[in-house]
Amino acid sequence: MKKLIAGNWKMNGSLAANEALMGALRAGLSGPARDVAVCVPAPYLAQVGALAGDVIALGAQDVSAHEQGAYTGEVSAAMLRELGVRYAIVGHSERRQYHAESDAVVALKAQRALACGITPIVCVGETLAERETGDTENVVKRQLAAVIHANGHCISEVVVAYEPVWAIGTGKTATPQQAQQVHAVLRAQLHAASAHSDRIRILYGGSMNAGNAAELMTQPDIDGGLIGGASLKPEDFLKIIASAR
Ligand code: PGA
Repeated sequence: MKKLIAGNWKMNGSLAANEALMGALRAGLSGPARDVAVCVPAPYLAQVGALAGDVIALGAQDVSAHEQGAYTGEVSAAMLRELGVRYAIVGHSERRQYHAESDAVVALKAQRALACGITPIVCVGETLAERETGDTENVVKRQLAAVIHANGHCISEVVVAYEPVWAIGTGKTATPQQAQQVHAVLRAQLHAASAHSDRIRILYGGSMNAGNAAELMTQPDIDGGLIGGASLKPEDFLKIIASAR
């Protein structure tokens, strides 16, 4: 399966910084063997879309669960699609935590994205407390089950990202074995839900960097990465991309 390396810029960037970062990425990218995307703040989608060329796909960090109308501040999937967006992160733990997004809302967001031809990158992951009480598998299965339930056979069109909350932005990465164990659980769940599960990519995210990416991505069920902090540093992001084979 072709790997996917997606950068998640979070709430970072400026017109000038984006231009420099995209210029460095385009100059350093070589080889067609994997897919690359950058998920950028909504106000920069048009700018980054124009800078991305056809080698880097454009991604959003969220999408509204509503189709259109009186939802001040929301951005619809149709609007994203008009700007050339190919991927949208849904259910990132920062949104689940700070914006109280439930499993049901996340599932609806995935549905809205799919309806507009955008591939949702569905994030699942346990907190440290949940890991310590042995609840990791139950939590990620519950989160993914909501998305499977709402999306039926379209589930084969999503990307899943396993992002243990305790590893995000902390410098603490899951070991390749810890990550693989959860990825295998997610793979089995997807397999039971779809005849086409073999084409669903499951990314790892959480302090993935130029030093640990290669080993993580040699695991059988890790099909790429969702990269936060390191995606803002062109040299590091390019190294991670190069290690995806
Ligand atoms: P990180 O973030 O790579 O900075 O840990 C990953 C993410 O939140 O998607």
